[in-house]
Amino acid sequence: MKNQIVIHGGANSPSTLNEKLQKILDNLDVNGSSLDLAVKSVVMMEDDPTFNAGTGSVPRIDGSIQMDAAVMSDSGFGSVMCIENVKHPVMVARDVMEKSPHIMLAGEGAVEFARKLEYEYYNPETEKSREMMDKLKASIKNNTLPEKFKFMVKSSSDTVGAVARIDDKFAAAVSTGGAFPMLRGRVGDSPVIGAGIYQGEKGAVVATGIGEDIAKDLLSFRIYQQIGTDDLNEIVKKEIDKFKVSVGIIAISDNEYSVYANTDMAHAEREL
Ligand code: GLY
Repeated sequence: MKNQIVIHGGANSPSTLNEKLQKILDNLDVNGSSLDLAVKSVVMMEDDPTFNAGTGSVPRIDGSIQMDAAVMSDSGFGSVMCIENVKHPVMVARDVMEKSPHIMLAGEGAVEFARKLEYEYYNPETEKSREMMDKLKASIKNNTLPEKFKFMVKSSSDTVGAVARIDDKFAAAVSTGGAFPMLRGRVGDSPVIGAGIYQGEKGAVVATGIGEDIAKDLLSFRIYQQIGTDDLNEIVKKEIDKFKVSVGIIAISDNEYSVYANTDMAHAEREL
């Protein structure tokens, strides 16, 4: 099996960003396991304010920034939900897997855990997130928001993600600021095992798009279960084409990879 990594910049991220993602993979330090490479590439996307993860994450309707992230590999699963004021949520998710007896940590507990491991305070706010908040405040003032908050959640979303196959082992990593606009405390698909991320002996899958719909469908696990039953692209396409909201997938198996979305989705791939 060839060593390979595939990354995406989120559902609704324009393909004009493919070049930026390819540069991330070109500059990736390729020493390490499949988990190392998946996490390192997600960290690089968290550091780029273009993407809705880490620095550049979208705000909640109260103006706060809460982020979700997860990793999955042969070592297990770890995730953080609604974590605040850390630079690299995906690294904290990895630490949940490797350094805690748990698989998921949320909110203040996730922040406390990160501080104990000496993750410094970091404000991921950007000019873009401040502008989004200003526009939201203006629309609330002008009473132009949809009547039901439910519809608002479906208006925008993206996530960054990576799947890797190194030395016949698979890993997946995801990170997101969530779907704007959303309530404080809202959790999407990304940090939920089987929803936004899944990995096993047959491969690795990560999802991006409207988390509520992806999670209800257990999309990543559903695709993982079918690996080996058909061409990987066919499996992914069949599952995504069922959605009426924007959804994308990257997946990798022992001899194939697939990138497919029903909307724009920047992505890149590198053989190592
Ligand atoms: N897919 C990211 C989210 O809905 O939070």
